[in-house]
Amino acid sequence: MSAGEASTTGPNRVAAAVRRRLSAKAERFTESVIREMTRLAMQYDAVNMAQGFPDFSAAEEVKEAARQAISGDINQYAITWGAKELRDAIARKFERTQGVRVDPEREITVTCGSTEAMMAAMMGIINPGDEVVIFEPHYENYGPDAILSGATPRFVQLRPPDWNFDRDELTRAFGPKTKAIIVNTPNNPTGKVFSREELEFIRDLCVRWNSYAVTDEIYEHIIYDGTKHISMASLDGMRDLTITVNGMSKTYSVTGWRVGWAIAPPEVSVPIRKVHDFLTVGAAAPLQQAGAVALELPPSYYQKLAENYLVKRGRMLGILTDAGFRCFKPAGAYYIMTDISGFNFPDDLSFSRYLVEKIGVAVVPGSSFYDDAAMGARQVRFTFCKKESTLAACAEKLSKLRGP
Ligand SMILES: Cc1ncc(COP(=O)(O)O)c(C=O)c1O
Repeated sequence: MSAGEASTTGPNRVAAAVRRRLSAKAERFTESVIREMTRLAMQYDAVNMAQGFPDFSAAEEVKEAARQAISGDINQYAITWGAKELRDAIARKFERTQGVRVDPEREITVTCGSTEAMMAAMMGIINPGDEVVIFEPHYENYGPDAILSGATPRFVQLRPPDWNFDRDELTRAFGPKTKAIIVNTPNNPTGKVFSREELEFIRDLCVRWNSYAVTDEIYEHIIYDGTKHISMASLDGMRDLTITVNGMSKTYSVTGWRVGWAIAPPEVSVPIRKVHDFLTVGAAAPLQQAGAVALELPPSYYQKLAENYLVKRGRMLGILTDAGFRCFKPAGAYYIMTDISGFNFPDDLSFSRYLVEKIGVAVVPGSSFYDDAAMGARQVRFTFCKKESTLAACAEKLSKLRGP
């Protein structure tokens, strides 16, 4: 065999040939760092403060409703865009909590988690050349959502400690190509809750450029210090320009059920429903039935949820401050972004590795929330949606950071 032949069958050549057979889109993003941290937590037997899933029980009446639905043989495909009982309950709750009246027959699509709702919404509205404005730091899915739907992301910074945005920077990010802005309030990872003034400012830009607001509101009930959650769809002029994404995962502590939804005007719900149909056909039928029960829980359920998380927030702020972290106190959701400058590490990745391998606590490196990794190099995120024994184990492990 000649040298030339050897090079054509070498590992690089094989890798290039394989790559040609794969999707260039999928190559543009990595697997989820958050879910990778969960795997590392298991490998090193570390306390998982990385992924935002509650490790305590869901409400008994919601679980009982799911059991009854399965026993009652609600085990076949639901209507593609969602069981009528659940869509009706979603419409009633949106009107009750936000004063927005929607038609469950034409404006609600039930999906496999809000993750699918966001993807179906993006695929339903994006054309080649469209731009989407994304605040960062941002929930890591929005980057791949933009790439897979074919949108070009335009990032606008939320700046610590208050995570405010610069109004001029946001104004400059909008233009004739802006198809949508993604607004996540209460926000992951920062805990920011967008104020009415901020939402109105965004509203004015959407109206001016005829752009959609795609809002991720899955932490709507996890909110502190008397702050109010305001849905973009409730603002004057935004009823027809908003796609509201929400789900059961966080409000009812059932992240594994994979039930979410998108609320959008009828003409937008048509493509969302088509995309959803061919992506997944539908969400789990018996769990949708249980969802209809969950969404009718009394106000006391939501008060208790927020109260419990308030206690956990205080506990976690104490643990982290004692361990030497500078904390950005969240106004909503169940994460704390921290500044790690007080520790002598070159960046968030090496610090996160050290934490999981040597200290026994898994966190999310800040860079995974930014387009430019350098922006998050001094930050890591902790979640606190955990029972007291998990928080206590985390406190004990982190005490090792201060040294003997
Ligand atoms: C902001 C945000 N949106 C969406 C999701 C995923 O939600 P779901 O379980 O409904 O797909 C998460 C999960 O952590 C999140 O933090």
